[in-house]
Parts: sequence; C-alpha cells; structure tokens
Amino acid sequence: MEKQDKIRLLFVCLGNICRSPAAEGIMKDLVQREGLENKFFIDSAGTGGWHTGELPDARMRRHGEKRGYDFCSRARKFRAADFDDFDYIIVMDEENFQDVNAYATSEEDVRKIRRMTDFSQKYTHDYVPDPYYSGADGFELVLDLLEDATEGFLGELKTVHSL
Ligand code: 4NP
Repeated sequence: MEKQDKIRLLFVCLGNICRSPAAEGIMKDLVQREGLENKFFIDSAGTGGWHTGELPDARMRRHGEKRGYDFCSRARKFRAADFDDFDYIIVMDEENFQDVNAYATSEEDVRKIRRMTDFSQKYTHDYVPDPYYSGADGFELVLDLLEDATEGFLGELKTVHSL
C-alpha cells in the first residue's frame, strides 16, 4: 500500500525527543499488535528544531525499554508541508497546538490538529506534561498518559475508518 493510501499520523511536541517519539513508538507497537501496521504511516516532529537528527532523550528511551518499547526515531522539526503529508496531527499540549496552528492555511488544516489527551480513557489530564525538567515520575506519567490515549485514539480511528 502506498503511503498516501494509508492513514497518516504525525505526533508533535516541542523538542521531538521525549513525548512525541514515545507516542510514535507506542502507537506503532499498538497497531502492530492489532495486525494493522500496513494501514498506517506514523511519524513524529517537534515545533522546535534544536534536537534535529537526535535519538529520543536517553531517559525516555530507558523508561520505554522497561515497558518493552524501542524508541529509535530521529528528531525533526515540524514543517508546513506536514499538513499535506498527514491526515492527523496530534499535539501534546496547548503550546504545541498554537505553534502548529500558526502553520495552518485552511480550515481543513486546522481540523487535522487534535489533542492527545482528547483520546484519554482513564486519565483526566488535559495535556501531556513536558517531562524534560522532571524526574523519573514525569517520564512514567507521560508513558501512562500515552498508553491510555493511543488506545483511545486507535479505537476512534477503527470506527471512523471502518478498520
Ligand atoms: P519534548 O520535551 O517536547 O517532549 O520532546 C522537550 C525536549 C527538549 C526541550 C524541551 C522539551 N528543550 O528545550 O530542549
């Protein structure tokens, strides 16, 4: 299946080294476990470009490994063309929403932007907190929120796209 025939998901945070690469890795793992990996193209990006080319933060990788994930994407900056290249752009917090929204050039672009926590099932947080300056608890919370919300998101995608 060609990329344009797949459901294209882009997870976005600030640095693209903590939250969004974890969301990318967890979502890839989830669709694989459900046998749906061929239906999706999944990527992540940051609204800032300071970490371009880097692997995810070592702390995020370590916390992910403890749960069986291998977060191994390379950071890149969000670009206006991502609105053409993706069907859903899922942001982690309000700052990400505003920064991505500033690149939108149509109502269709704006409709593609979704908040990760809108898909939460168990948690009531209304954003995924930046763990960069936090301790281990912050990284564990991010993974808890993302595991919960990616499941909710896939549930919605299955309904909307009749998967
Ligand atoms: P992320 O975390 O947005 O979840 O990747 C951050 C990583 C790096 C920085 C900020 C947030 N930074 O300022 O370098």
